[in-house]
Formats: sequence, C-alpha cells, structure tokens
Amino acid sequence: MINIIVACDQNRLIGKNGKLPWNIREDWEYFLKTTQKGTLIMGRHCYNDFEEHAQDRSVITLSRNQKIKFPHALKAGSLKESLSIAKELNQVVWICGGREIYEEALGIADYLYLTEIKAEYSGNVYLPPWEKYFTREISRKSIQTDSAELIFRVLTK
Ligand SMILES: NC(=O)c1ccc[n+]([C@@H]2O[C@H](COP(=O)([O-])OP(=O)(O)OC[C@H]3O[C@@H](n4cnc5c(N)ncnc54)[C@H](OP(=O)(O)O)[C@@H]3O)[C@@H](O)[C@H]2O)c1
Repeated sequence: MINIIVACDQNRLIGKNGKLPWNIREDWEYFLKTTQKGTLIMGRHCYNDFEEHAQDRSVITLSRNQKIKFPHALKAGSLKESLSIAKELNQVVWICGGREIYEEALGIADYLYLTEIKAEYSGNVYLPPWEKYFTREISRKSIQTDSAELIFRVLTK
C-alpha cells in the first residue's frame, strides 16, 4: 500500500527554507506515530531536516546526484526506483514529500493522509493540487492546539 502524508496550511503551504513553516507538537507527533512502522520515501531536502529521526526508521531518499550518500537512508534516483526498493522491504510505504515527489505520487498513491492547519504561515514550498485525485474522505478528526485548529483527514480515490 502507498500512502501520501502531508500537512499544509490554509494556502497549501508546506515548507519554508528546508523546514516546516510551523512548530506544532501535535502535527509532528502525528507524523512520527503514523509513519512509525513503514518505509518513508522523501526528497533530499526533507531528509536533511529529518536525519536524526531516520536512524531508527526505514527511509529511502531521492536524489539525482549519483555520488551522494545518506548515512541513515537508502538512496534512489527516481520515485519508481524508490518504490521498487520499498517493495523488497515489504512495509506500508509513506510518501513524505517534498513538492515534486508529491506531484508524481498523487496519481499512484492509495491514500492521502492530509493534515489541514487552519492558519496562514509564510514559506516557499506548496503542496500541488490533490483534489482531483482524492475525492473520498474516509476519516476526519479535528483538534484545537495552542497555535491553530488541526484537521487530520484520510482520503482515498
Ligand atoms: N508540511 C509537510 O508535511 C511537509 C512534507 C514534506 C516536506 N515539507 C517541507 O518542504 C520542503 C522540502 O521540499 P522540497 O520540495 O523543497 O524538497 P525535497 O523534495 O525534499 O528535495 C528536493 C530534492 O530531492 C531530489 N528529488 C526530488 N524529486 C526527485 C525525483 N523525482 N527523482 C530524483 N530525485 C528527486 C532532488 O535532489 P538532488 O538535487 O540531490 O538531485 C531535489 O533537489 C522543506 O521545507 C520541508 O520542511 C513539508
């Protein structure tokens, strides 16, 4: 099974200069807990921010640079290659971004785990439109945090 997991603000913003635009404990804990037992696929920028957590998880990092190595992740040169490596690992696959990888994965993923943060932040990386791919909501849970309301949604096709 292939899942996409992402949190965005109300303008679809997801990133700011290589990091998350917000610091919301409940968002981060949900991400870590939800993806705990799977194989995580992420781009090089995401890996750089995530590296300390990659040590005790199964991570595949995408880069087109043939020479680069990631200390705590397997490396793939394309989404297709990362999925075939993940297949060998036989766990649920979590597509963790960033932008280009989400764009490519929207057509092939089974589920979208979308956390909507009901606030506006500043940043420079946006989630591509997903609505035409994921049309059926199968669960939704809303919580109020100190910073904003969060809606944890799971959608399928
Ligand atoms: N809110 C969220 O849920 C969420 C989720 C994910 C990311 N983010 C944020 O988004 C930002 C990172 O996303 P990003 O889009 O800037 O970068 P990214 O996807 O993490 O990394 C981009 C790099 O990954 C490699 N790459 C991407 N697509 C590839 C492909 N199809 N095949 C091979 N390699 C590929 C390339 O590396 P090379 O240049 O080495 O070839 C590319 O330069 C950060 O700010 C992060 O915090 C937020």
